[in-house]
Amino acid sequence: MTDGVPFKNPGWAGNTGEYELTEAQVRGHDYVGTRPRDGGHPAGAGSYPYMLVERHPDAPLFEGPYLERFNKIKTRYPDLRATLLPTLNLAQEVRGHVSPQTMDEVASLLELPPAYVRGVATFYTMYNKQPIGRFLVQVCTNISCNLCGAEEVLKAFLVYADTELGETSQDGNFTVIEAECLAACGFATCVQINSAYYENLTAKGVPELLEHLKSQVGADGEGEGG
Ligand code: FES
Repeated sequence: MTDGVPFKNPGWAGNTGEYELTEAQVRGHDYVGTRPRDGGHPAGAGSYPYMLVERHPDAPLFEGPYLERFNKIKTRYPDLRATLLPTLNLAQEVRGHVSPQTMDEVASLLELPPAYVRGVATFYTMYNKQPIGRFLVQVCTNISCNLCGAEEVLKAFLVYADTELGETSQDGNFTVIEAECLAACGFATCVQINSAYYENLTAKGVPELLEHLKSQVGADGEGEGG
């Protein structure tokens, strides 16, 4: 347990290591707690976004702080074409998935051929092409995790979230998928839920974790599972 959150990796070595650093000293003050919607310092504006618990599939692209962030992203690249990946990331953060309509809007925003944007967006599995639940549960079933019971963990998620692989539970909370190695092989089984890693998971721990996640529904932002 970490701060009452089951199995969560706080995402930084900090005071669990030998240096006794604070989270803010490791991540930078802009990135502790809720990440600023405007992206904070322009150098970090294009970094991989959070997956929010509450998403808005029909939200405009982009306005308010997201427009600020988009403009900051543009300052870090030589031309509009080069901003395509972070712009699609940003669109996904706002809308939760990248629909064909979103791809076309991004194409028009970046003055690119729609077919080019569709080719890029459909190449990468990290862009969700379909709507997903509030929590995208990615269970690593690669070798280390598999040896440590990942198949049972995956089954437990499907049973307790009451859904099928790749589908979303009826309450709209959980989409459960398999993932390739999440680079946390020393902490198998590892599961990524939205932007957070949960490690050393066993099938037995799954119901508690799902209850914990459900308690965050309705929060406007990343929540702890963000
Ligand atoms: S095999 Fe699961 S994190 Fe590497």
